[in-house]
Amino acid sequence: MTEHTHNPHEKLEKNVGLLAVAIALAVSFGGLAEIVPLMFQAEAIKPLPGVKPYPALELAGRDIYIREGCYNCHSQMVRTLRFETERYGHYSLAGESVYDRPFQWGSKRTGPDLARVGGRYSDDWHRVHLNNPRDVVPESNMPSFPWLNKNMVDGATVQAHMRALQRLGDPYTDADIKGAPEAVAGKTEMDALVAYLQGLGKHAPRTP
Ligand code: HEC
Repeated sequence: MTEHTHNPHEKLEKNVGLLAVAIALAVSFGGLAEIVPLMFQAEAIKPLPGVKPYPALELAGRDIYIREGCYNCHSQMVRTLRFETERYGHYSLAGESVYDRPFQWGSKRTGPDLARVGGRYSDDWHRVHLNNPRDVVPESNMPSFPWLNKNMVDGATVQAHMRALQRLGDPYTDADIKGAPEAVAGKTEMDALVAYLQGLGKHAPRTP
């Protein structure tokens, strides 16, 4: 004969409603314990030294990066895994992307991570590569973006974007915004995208 033990745990496990409530409580507590401290952690919301809002040309390039869907194949987030830090450099820090709205961390990695690509190649390499990747990487399956050479950057659009970011709290000065059309005058979308790529990871900490 088994003697029935009436411990509280048994009661909980045999009552679906009660168990569901208890699970919901446990999960919410776990979530709060992880998320709430992050909201008060200065490192998560403070830019790293040297990280500034994107200059007009790079901001225009970033818009093109998003428009062309580069994030469908490229992440911008070096994870804290040995094989990633050996390949790309220091793992990504929150303070690098405080001015990234929306962030481009991504998770689809058909191509290499781009968080540290700035300075890895020359501007000319990027131009040739974006125009037709097969010209420099014969086995590449990355699409070509030849129209970037012909389209010009629109100064008024960049200016409006900077004004919106200033309203959201990004420290653009009025002079930055006033000077935007001049900063991108005569520049092609290729110029802008290459400027953006060359700036990626510029302020990343060096791998120890
Ligand atoms: C369909 C997937 C795909 C899309 C979309 C794509 N790429 Fe790529 N990309 C790749 C692949 C695969 C490679 C590796 C082969 C090569 O270098 O071409 C690559 C390589 C690169 C590299 C070289 C990285 C390195 O460290 O060697 C850069 C820079 C790059 N892509 C930028 C872009 C940009 C900017 C866009 C958007 C305009 C873009 N890619 C869109 C797949 C893609």
